[in-house]
Amino acid sequence: MKSAPWWKEATIYQIYPRSFFDSNGDGEGDLPGVTSQLDYVKSLGVDAIWLSPFYTSPNKDGGYDVANPRDVDPRFGNLEDAKELIAQAHQRNLRVIADIVPNHFSDQHEWFQAALKAGRGSKERERFHFYDANEDGTPPNNWISLFGGPSWTQVTDGQFYLHLFDSSQPDLNWENPEVNADFEKTLRFWIDLGVDGFRIDVAHGLIKEDVLTNHSDPQGLSNALRLDVAMDSEVRNALLLTVPYFDRQGVHEIYRKWRKLFDSYGEREIMAVAEAWVHPPVNATRYVRADELHQVFNFDLLTAEFDSRVLFDVVERSISLNATVNALPTWALSNHDSPRVASRIGEEQARALALFVFGLPGSAYVFAGQELGLPDGQLQDSDRQDPTFFRTNGQIKGRDGARVPLPWSGNTTPFGFSTGKPWLPISQSWRDLTVESELADPKSSLHLYRNALELRKEFLVGAGGITWLESCNHGSKGDSLLSYTRGGVTVVMNLSDSANECDADGRLLIVSGGTVDARDGKKVIPARSTAWFLT
Ligand code: NOJ
Repeated sequence: MKSAPWWKEATIYQIYPRSFFDSNGDGEGDLPGVTSQLDYVKSLGVDAIWLSPFYTSPNKDGGYDVANPRDVDPRFGNLEDAKELIAQAHQRNLRVIADIVPNHFSDQHEWFQAALKAGRGSKERERFHFYDANEDGTPPNNWISLFGGPSWTQVTDGQFYLHLFDSSQPDLNWENPEVNADFEKTLRFWIDLGVDGFRIDVAHGLIKEDVLTNHSDPQGLSNALRLDVAMDSEVRNALLLTVPYFDRQGVHEIYRKWRKLFDSYGEREIMAVAEAWVHPPVNATRYVRADELHQVFNFDLLTAEFDSRVLFDVVERSISLNATVNALPTWALSNHDSPRVASRIGEEQARALALFVFGLPGSAYVFAGQELGLPDGQLQDSDRQDPTFFRTNGQIKGRDGARVPLPWSGNTTPFGFSTGKPWLPISQSWRDLTVESELADPKSSLHLYRNALELRKEFLVGAGGITWLESCNHGSKGDSLLSYTRGGVTVVMNLSDSANECDADGRLLIVSGGTVDARDGKKVIPARSTAWFLT
């Protein structure tokens, strides 16, 4: 029998290259820096790395503003460094996922520069969304950028171009066959260089409809799309149903074509995972139909409270919706766009939730530094670089906190990350959170992750579905415990602030914090902790 494809229940480690390891002392991480730490990555027990963009870029949006998608930005190295990274990863049996950014280019891309020169009505402008101003001189419609401010910028001849993100990120016009052809070229370029898959940025955004139509509440909609902006969930959901530029049916045609391209590489099992913030949740399943992409991110755990009903709903919904298209879910607690999970829900809770999630079917994504239990970096406004901060006049602090470089070793900041001044400051308070210090502490978050991922591989990958034991709909303690069995393992998470008894049988495999005791034939799970038992 053919074994399951490598990505099916993989654990994937997200590396933000600028923040991982600096090999040349310029204060920014780079590709040789990643290569030099691959033994560490391998030791975590992950199957693959996903590299956030390292392409030529003026870096107005952390590299998601791509000026040449088929080259490496000098700040990260060069193409030879990329090849070496991939080769070294493969030697260690680690797959490599590249981040592709098809919704927009940088305004420094040669196409956009040519469009500026060629002027209105030119074929160069048709690669983007250029329109004339309204008669009163206002932009073609009232849409608001997801980074704040209008989503249109005017050029010298009076036309406006659309940018759903920063003004330096003009949106591409996917109705234009040239755009399609160029991206297929880019996909082939990286596959031929050795990558094993792609994370597709803003996968739901490529096709725009009604570009000349105003939205009734553009600011509300833009806020609703930003999970860092607090909003009542009913209001948010109602607004999300009205979004005119995301999740249009046309995007699926693009992914069907891409799937054929990926499949043409046969046994290399090239995969793709969609970043698609869509609503209602069932819409996400369309991206992983059999002839489309392989995975779609489930972002619910990036914002979910540490609450048993909320977590049960997220897990149950994701498993059952994916099952309708024969796909498995993905789980992510942190990424480069969100507050780190340890800051958001608490350190112990973050460990408990990670262990809970590692037992579930599907792929687990781990954002570099999460394994150390890193909190968000504490930054001054003068340190900030995220365009969100600038486009909202500082009202929204932005995403830099999650992007502070990793602490590796020693007692003094920048803890071995760089011999220079790191691009974002690393707090001295991270002294006990370095890789070196956590390796020396058997109770550290790092050891928890390493042990958990080893056990996940041994007992849980490929073990099929889950059976709930405790939840709001099962058992008798569903407000304080969440518990399921899968394969021969029982996973119990105690969400409450006091120790809690449960009926789980079997031998303790691992616990996220504290000590599991036995009392009257029952197991006592410590407060805010998860345990696995092997029956
Ligand atoms: C999603 C990426 O994760 C984020 O970092 C970026 O700013 C936007 N897409 C725009 O590319």
